[in-house]
Amino acid sequence: MKKVLIADKADSLCEKILRERGLEPVVKTGMKPEELKACADQFDAIIVRSATTLTRDIIEAAKNLKAVARAGSGVDNIDVPACSEKKVLVMNTPFGNTVSTGEHAIAMMMALARHIPQANASTHAGKWEKKKFEGVEITGKTLGVVGCGNIGAVVADRALGLKMNVLVFDPAMTAGRASALGVKTATLEELYAKSDFITYHVTINPATKGMLNKDAISRMKKGVRVINCARGGIMAEADIKEALLSGQMAGLACDVYAKEPATEHIFFGMENVIATPHIAASTKDAQVTVARQAAEQIADYLLTGKITNAVNGDKI
Ligand code: MLT
Repeated sequence: MKKVLIADKADSLCEKILRERGLEPVVKTGMKPEELKACADQFDAIIVRSATTLTRDIIEAAKNLKAVARAGSGVDNIDVPACSEKKVLVMNTPFGNTVSTGEHAIAMMMALARHIPQANASTHAGKWEKKKFEGVEITGKTLGVVGCGNIGAVVADRALGLKMNVLVFDPAMTAGRASALGVKTATLEELYAKSDFITYHVTINPATKGMLNKDAISRMKKGVRVINCARGGIMAEADIKEALLSGQMAGLACDVYAKEPATEHIFFGMENVIATPHIAASTKDAQVTVARQAAEQIADYLLTGKITNAVNGDKI
């Protein structure tokens, strides 16, 4: 019987589906890299979320590995080139957590506009600081969406429903898709110059690494509010801190960090930073969907060779 390691906490549906399909799921979460490397050769497939990093040496040690599934969108915790070299198929579940992540970005924007976490903490502390928490409306304001794939499109759609003007920067955006979404496209320069709120929905790659830096911030409106539910690596964190201290950036809502888990960070403790621990996709709904998709995709590939949502299908 083919064995599938579920290396990160996933909805129980994942295990159930694998079993029903005649595979042997092994749930072993929280393993240290050395432990994972030591047992990796037992598995035909591995399912991860974001906690486990599948490095080259783990992939090379996994002599029987045929497929890896990421129950989520980003595959930056998987050494895809190493998998391709070993003919290991890498799949993600790109649509499963799109709505949840987009909704979290909208929630973060609302929280930034009205200082909700700070007001909540203050009120629980019995302070009644009514004057301190004056916010801003979002109606009629401009939201800049940097990166408009599946998640960015959800954010843009919801923001239009909230009566915002939406500007989108995405080199892959076609005129047809922009018009179907009802958004205006812009250059990054225009988006930075015109937006009151800016939300990032890009993957991390050489072009996006550190893109939210001093230079970018200097092109934004004074008092801009920024949301990052994409990847921590897009932020030049020291530049952002400086902008938050000077008031150039009025607020940052941040779900992702360059190094995770982030138990210490230069943003922590800042009054104008709202921080969440990479939970944008953490809803029951999304986790059920990505767990089901990951299990089905692995079972299909191991049992029938059917490939779905592969990121290196052309290399296998
Ligand atoms: C993803 O890439 O799917 C999201 O960042 C969610 C996650 O990693 O938990």
